Amino acid sequence: MTQAPLFQPAPAPSDEARARAEELRRLLHHHAHLYYVLDAPQIPDAEYDRLFHELQAIEAAHPELLTPDSPTQRVLGKVLDGFTPVRHAVPMLSIRTETDTSSAGALAFDARVRRELGLAEDAPPVEYACELKFDGLAINLRYEHGTLVQAATRGDGEQGEDVTQNIRTIAQIPLRLIGDAPAVLEVRGEVYMRRDAFERLNERQREAGEKTFVNPRNAAAGAVRQLDPAIAAKRPLSFFAYGLGQVQGWDQPGTHSGVLDALAAFGLPVSNERRVAQGAEGLIAFHQDIAARRDQLPFDIDGVVYKVNDLALQRQLGFVTREPRWAVAHKYPAQEQVTAVQAIDVQVGRTGKLTPVARLAPVFVGGVTVTNATLHNLFELRRKGVRIGDQVIVRRAGDVIPEVVGRVTGDRPAYVPNFRMPRHCPVCSSTVVREKGEVDHRCSGGLFCAAQRKQALLHFAQRRAMDIEGLGEKLVDQLVDAGIIRTLPELYTLGLAKLSALERMADKSAANLLAALERSKSTTLPRFLYALGIRHVGEATAKDLARHFGSLDRLMDASVEQLLQVGDVGPVVAQSIRTFFDQAHNREVVEQLRAAGIHWPEGEPSAVAQLPLAGLTFVLTGTLPTLTRDEAKERIEALGGKAAGSVSKKTHYVVAGEEAGSKLAKAQELGVTILDEAGLLALLERAAAGEPL
Ligand code: IVH
Repeated sequence: MTQAPLFQPAPAPSDEARARAEELRRLLHHHAHLYYVLDAPQIPDAEYDRLFHELQAIEAAHPELLTPDSPTQRVLGKVLDGFTPVRHAVPMLSIRTETDTSSAGALAFDARVRRELGLAEDAPPVEYACELKFDGLAINLRYEHGTLVQAATRGDGEQGEDVTQNIRTIAQIPLRLIGDAPAVLEVRGEVYMRRDAFERLNERQREAGEKTFVNPRNAAAGAVRQLDPAIAAKRPLSFFAYGLGQVQGWDQPGTHSGVLDALAAFGLPVSNERRVAQGAEGLIAFHQDIAARRDQLPFDIDGVVYKVNDLALQRQLGFVTREPRWAVAHKYPAQEQVTAVQAIDVQVGRTGKLTPVARLAPVFVGGVTVTNATLHNLFELRRKGVRIGDQVIVRRAGDVIPEVVGRVTGDRPAYVPNFRMPRHCPVCSSTVVREKGEVDHRCSGGLFCAAQRKQALLHFAQRRAMDIEGLGEKLVDQLVDAGIIRTLPELYTLGLAKLSALERMADKSAANLLAALERSKSTTLPRFLYALGIRHVGEATAKDLARHFGSLDRLMDASVEQLLQVGDVGPVVAQSIRTFFDQAHNREVVEQLRAAGIHWPEGEPSAVAQLPLAGLTFVLTGTLPTLTRDEAKERIEALGGKAAGSVSKKTHYVVAGEEAGSKLAKAQELGVTILDEAGLLALLERAAAGEPL
């Protein structure tokens, strides 16, 4: 009797399957590059997924067709015991740092280069490649015949660690190069974390009551050196290439800028913030230009880097010890500094959230003098162990509020008491509460609380809300502190007499404010709804609600179920609206405002349902080539579509421009259709013509 074989050998792949797998790999690499590196997708996500699954199916049926560079192999490897050491074929050197943040740093470098090249004073200026100094972790990517075979950290420069598993989870890093790849190409660059990704990561950590990361660099370095690739994959990392390691079989360009262009053509992410400049003057202009825009960049940099552009001149200049003579890093003011905590106060925000704030000995950080920094919440403050008198590290990067990231350990007198959250609101004395499972303490005073009232007034007066010009922070402080205004409707009872009595209020500005108040009475329902400051009702939701219900009364009487009918309104938002209008005093405020003369045109419920884009939600992200964000939004709304702020399962289209970041990634994750500006315009045209979308 013959026994059935234990393993049924898989049928040999047909030539057709082999060719199709190859074609699919090529297509997927191509579209992944368009998506992750160029931010210019050409096919919908669903189509990408279809191709991906087709390849997965072929590989499952014929494992011998699986290649290490297959796009299906960005999968998570297993947890490691430790990292394997990697000896670098070409040492990974560092660059000299010019710490003089003034233009003197650039002048000194140019002078040195000219001297070492033996250039006469009247010789033409040296050409430099200027780029950013990314603040992350240096990585060497080794490609053999176009396939990523190894990724290693810098380590001591001679020997690093093999982090290939983790690096493979970074979608921006190609597993295979585009075009004719050299036999060996080592690409050097920086793995970093964007600031928005970092903020979100920390926000998640905070909400979960977990330890936060000090800065994006630490978060990125920690992720790359994770033994568990599943954790690494959850940390959204990015990469920029800035140089080469070992190279074989490549007729490489003659300039550094040419090398970077070639790397970009191979499909590697290269920053656009780079420039070829002539002489010291060009360096200084670059340093100043980037300094002015540093806060607006989506990631941290700690300076810029100048490199002699001509590679032959680089060779001529050579190295001193471990640093090239042809490059220098020119720093910017540090984004982290140490200073002393003089006091810990508590601030009350518009929603009543109590935030512990450290009052600091003034310190210059990230380009400005900082005297306050947030400690976020009680739990984070405790975890960081901060007390009055401590030396702490303060971070200010981008336009984010400065924060205390940690304490510098050192002696402290034994008698310094631990910080406690007050039981009563420091502004209105109402009870402070903390809901179960929440980390935030809140004042229960609502609009009775002057702090919340001030914030509510400022919110109400905002340009995008009631647009009351001239009602700024100082004036609101005065009006509330003097007891002139306790409720929103009282704004409209202000007269010249009351206003002129205020300090520094000239007759003319009083008259201007009254005129602005008068103008604000004629408004729109979405603006009014947004102005009320209902929790979770932002501008987009307000527009949605107004469109759906057409009138304020219908909205105020809507049940939670009816509210849930509105696109993008989920249970939390619906409940928050219901709760707001269930409170008698809120209804009273609304009535008083209407009585004061605030009015808007009301419409029929869902009149917009007939418009071609009705029911479709768009999210705009990044910079579009010709339209401003407001213009794009207006055009979408004019056809009945909705522009929302964040991507969810209910989003229909994401319109992505340059520098689109997390929203684009989220859209891809959820399989939302992605359009570029041209795609949007084409869609709008079809919609306007009544054609199918
Ligand atoms: S070039 C031989 N370019 O700064 C020159 N480095 O000390 C090799 N870095 O740890 C470095 N941005 O990771 C170069 N545009 C850039 C850079 C850059 C950041 C880091 C690099 C290294 C350190 C250099």
